[in-house]
Amino acid sequence: MMEKEKWRKIEQLAKAWTIEAAELLQKSFENTLTITYKSHIADLVTNMDKNIEKFFIDKIQNTFPEHRVLGEEGYGDDIQDKSGIIWIIDPIDGTTNFIHQQSNFAISIGIYENGSGKMGLIYDVGSKNLYFAKDGEGAYLNDLKLSKLDKAALSEAVVGVNATWVGPNKRINHENVQEIVRKSRGTRSYGSAAIELAYVASGKLDAYMTMRLSPWDFAAGLILLNEVGGIATKTNGKPIQLLEQNSILAAKPGLHEEMLKHLIK
Ligand code: IPD
Ligand code: CA
Ligand code: CA
Ligand code: CA
Repeated sequence: MMEKEKWRKIEQLAKAWTIEAAELLQKSFENTLTITYKSHIADLVTNMDKNIEKFFIDKIQNTFPEHRVLGEEGYGDDIQDKSGIIWIIDPIDGTTNFIHQQSNFAISIGIYENGSGKMGLIYDVGSKNLYFAKDGEGAYLNDLKLSKLDKAALSEAVVGVNATWVGPNKRINHENVQEIVRKSRGTRSYGSAAIELAYVASGKLDAYMTMRLSPWDFAAGLILLNEVGGIATKTNGKPIQLLEQNSILAAKPGLHEEMLKHLIK
């Protein structure tokens, strides 16, 4: 199969499966969720996080047996290297919102080939907004092609940041983060890293920063950002490692540099 055709098929199926999974998530609100927690009481997981991950793995394994899957809930492959095609899936990004708000949660899928980002989907289930990007072909919000991001200054920027990082914590000098908060036009926190990255890619946020994300939280977002000229690195300016936990600073050009000056001193 020609390369273009291969990716067209992947796109068509990834989109169709995502819409189908979103319908299952919406429908699940009619039943009682089974909620348990993982590492601590704020680290929640539901039966639907697991079901949706298995739903994608089943579809992918049946259709593309040579592809591998890395999923948050651990039903996928044990991925130690970046070779071949890997689907990096967060079945529900924003599980706390899924449970508490029944909105502001997303399905996030980043598809990589030999470590390079090929396709990203972030589906905000409550609003039915699909953020989609394909390597070299731009990024879209539903049918609307997203524009390249313009330069921005911190004084005119709305920054996505979670309050955790503004107070004393072990991951960053919080006084540097406080400086960013004070100098910005305002801050927001949505509780879904994937949605926050999609917001940066679509210009609804000017920047997003966080001290620890896993591959499934950012895999799709990075591909979207890349298509619109957004800059994403770790908060120390170094490159993000696809298969590891990373801090993330994602921002419009110019703003990324300005925020880094506050963060690295
Ligand atoms: C979480 C969300 C949240 C972020 C956490 C993630 P989950 O993902 O993206 O916004 O701050 O670091 O773990 O567990 O809801 O998929
Ligand atoms: Ca989780
Ligand atoms: Ca997540
Ligand atoms: Ca999740």
